[in-house]
Amino acid sequence: MKKILVTGGTGYIGSHTVVELRQKGYDVIIVDNLSNSSIEVLDNIAAITGTKPLFEKLDLAEREVTLDFFARHTDIEAVIHFAAYKAVGESVEQPLKYYRNNLFSLINILDGMLENRISNMVFSSSCTVYGQPDELPVTEQAPIKQAMSPYGNTKQISEEILRDTTNVNKNLNAICLRYFNPIGAHESAKIGELPLGVPNNLVPFITQTAIGIRPQLKVFGDDYPTPDGTPIRDYIHVVDLAKAHVVAVDRMLNEKMKKNCEVFNLGTGNGFSVLEVIKSFEKVAGVKLNYKIVDRRPGDITEVWADTSFANRELGWKAEKGLDEMTLSAWKWELALAEKKKNKIR
Ligand code: NAD
Ligand code: WQD
Repeated sequence: MKKILVTGGTGYIGSHTVVELRQKGYDVIIVDNLSNSSIEVLDNIAAITGTKPLFEKLDLAEREVTLDFFARHTDIEAVIHFAAYKAVGESVEQPLKYYRNNLFSLINILDGMLENRISNMVFSSSCTVYGQPDELPVTEQAPIKQAMSPYGNTKQISEEILRDTTNVNKNLNAICLRYFNPIGAHESAKIGELPLGVPNNLVPFITQTAIGIRPQLKVFGDDYPTPDGTPIRDYIHVVDLAKAHVVAVDRMLNEKMKKNCEVFNLGTGNGFSVLEVIKSFEKVAGVKLNYKIVDRRPGDITEVWADTSFANRELGWKAEKGLDEMTLSAWKWELALAEKKKNKIR
């Protein structure tokens, strides 16, 4: 069995990807420092796939331990690198924390790979690199705009690091996947998003409000130049996103890449407004959501959705799940978390 290293594999997108990799017959080893995830996720993955993946707790921003890890695991065929900090607002407050973690980790991993002749990396990038695009849907060729946050800048710099490094190391392959807005959870409701503290993102805030953890959802602005005045995003089901990673790994291992550094948009190609997401949630959950329109959130763009034709054509991958399926799976996950909490209290 081919062994794949999944960094950040106990996190939100990583855990869903581990499940898809296991189901396609890949052997997986997870590395995570558990700074934004829990060790219990390993049991939850095992409950879905039947086996617990190998796991090592280590901080990839620490050079010696990372190089030591690679020296002990020279049989890894590809690395899917999710591990990073991702809170946009926090990155503005603490830029060095973000540059140190996100960039040191990537550099250490690349050194470990090069030292041990490990050739393939799939990297978690983001639609944030486009800022507010001039043309929609946005293609991979759209200009990269000045980053709106240190977090966004770490994604731009990481892509540059990968481009420059693959340029001089022809045996090294990188696929940068630019995710749009991942939401939802696995259909089993055994894994999902676990935001620490108050969620920054829309859908976890909706589900936490509906279940009573938060009193009210604030909708940040309804005076945008969009049909209903609220911003538009390309929400993608996390399982569709996870599947794209397996396809990317297959492409690398089967030597199907056209260049040794490729970039793909991962979205559905459809944009939905904040109010449309709320309406979908209310319909599938049968819950009336308490929300209020407030001022715009600084830094938010008006609208973005992906041109997915390159990923559809080249990867043979297409997002399949619609908005209602996304919001329903997010709600089932929130209900499962509430049930777990109740049983712990009893
Ligand atoms: P997440 O926080 O749930 O998962 C990231 C995991 O990485 C966590 O388990 C955390 O403990 C681990 N980690 C962080 N720094 C580490 C380090 N130095 N060493 C070892 N482990 C470390 O986040 P996610 O939503 O699953 O995001 C995964 C990746 O996708 C990130 O790179 C993120 O920037 C990117 N991304 C996420 C989104 C999104 O909306 N969720 C959108 C675009 C891109
Ligand atoms: C979506 C819409 C908000 C919360 C962020 C990162 C981006 C990428 C994806 C990693 C916006 C509105 C939200 C709330 C609201 N992550 N909203 N009330 O801002 O598109 O992107 O996640 O790479 O880098 O910036 O996602 O879920 O925060 O917001 O009205 O309580 O929901 O204003 O219009 P965003 P989001």
